[in-house]
Amino acid sequence: MTVPTAAAPALLLAAIVLCSSSALVSCDELRHGVRRAAVPAMYVFGDSLVDAGNNDFLPPPAPRALPPNGVDLPRWVLRRTGRFTNGFNLADIIAQHLGFEFSPPAYLSLTTPLSSLDLLRGRVGANYASGGSGILDITGNGTITLREQVQLFAETKARMIRAGLVGRESLDDLLAQSLFVVSAGGNDFDAFDYGLPMSEAPAFIAAMVDTYINHINELYRLGARKLALLDILPVGCIPSQRAITTNGGCDADGNALSRAFNALLRTEMARAAAAASMPGLEYSVASLYNVLSDMIANPALAGLREVEVACCGGGKFNGEVGCTVATSLCADRDEFLFWDFVHGTQAAYRRAVHAFFYGTARDAEPVNLAQLVPAVAANSSSI
Ligand SMILES: *[C@@H]1O[C@H](CO)[C@@H](O)[C@H](O)[C@H]1NC(C)=O
Ligand SMILES: *[C@@H]1O[C@H](CO)[C@@H](O)[C@H](O)[C@H]1NC(C)=O
Repeated sequence: MTVPTAAAPALLLAAIVLCSSSALVSCDELRHGVRRAAVPAMYVFGDSLVDAGNNDFLPPPAPRALPPNGVDLPRWVLRRTGRFTNGFNLADIIAQHLGFEFSPPAYLSLTTPLSSLDLLRGRVGANYASGGSGILDITGNGTITLREQVQLFAETKARMIRAGLVGRESLDDLLAQSLFVVSAGGNDFDAFDYGLPMSEAPAFIAAMVDTYINHINELYRLGARKLALLDILPVGCIPSQRAITTNGGCDADGNALSRAFNALLRTEMARAAAAASMPGLEYSVASLYNVLSDMIANPALAGLREVEVACCGGGKFNGEVGCTVATSLCADRDEFLFWDFVHGTQAAYRRAVHAFFYGTARDAEPVNLAQLVPAVAANSSSI
């Protein structure tokens, strides 16, 4: 089976003519630039760092990304905002590095036959992420939990098979070449804000990683072979935590939780990948922790001016009140690391993703994303 990576102009032209009337090449496929993407599809799981609009379809208490979230998205994407940042989020920017225009569509937005056609053909992919969700089932009341997200992908695969638009073997090939992105864990730490004592941290984190690896096993069983796992950012340094420390510094306990989880995740992923049970698995742990910590330690190097106060919000560090149309909004958003009390700006996300693709082992290990998806490396100049 061959996956076309470049369309001859004549083919593209034919496709443009065909796309409105034929199932051969869908309009969505053209819009997403599938024919020049480095992977057939991308499937996204996790929380608000990568949610591309699923929560717009969920009732409260699931958090919604209302304006001014998305304020810097190009006009043509605005109608599909749902991003918890000012512009594109981490899923969008990873997708852009792969040659897509932005994140695959939010799974819950896939109601029209045309857009789900790509999904059923193993193309473009889908985004199952839900803002506020965690790794554990108890985290994120009202959100799509990580377990449910993986189940939705299992249902998607069953529908792909039933639809029969690609053969079983081709489908397995397409899934094996696709990139599976997971960003989860930061919200589980809310349990400590709600009174879980730090002495419980080791057992709690062990349970998080155990559950996470179970979900990875399930994704593998369903055909995932290339995984990009984002570790947990330095939660002690987000504006909402900085606002409650006595000296306005980073909360040491919060960062210790992130580091403990991140270390155990690396150990357990290495163990799982080395085990005979998951042959052919390739993965990268992309370090939000290290990349954001480096930006905080040396803002100028990252081209940032403000790495403590959020761009949008209220109270100390703009971290005590969430971002709404009624709160303050900074003008120079490309110079801020944090968009609101917890999320990064598009500018910070762009720098982070560039490091995930082309950085050293400190940024992504055991391989970076360009090594995980070799077709990307050749095109780094086009980003
Ligand atoms: C890389 O870029 C070249 C030239 O723009 C293009 O022909 C090729 O298809 C691209 N490959 C991928 C994997 O994006
Ligand atoms: C979840 O949210 C619903 C609706 O707001 C609320 O009634 C319920 O008590 C919440 N459950 C938990 C466990 O917090």
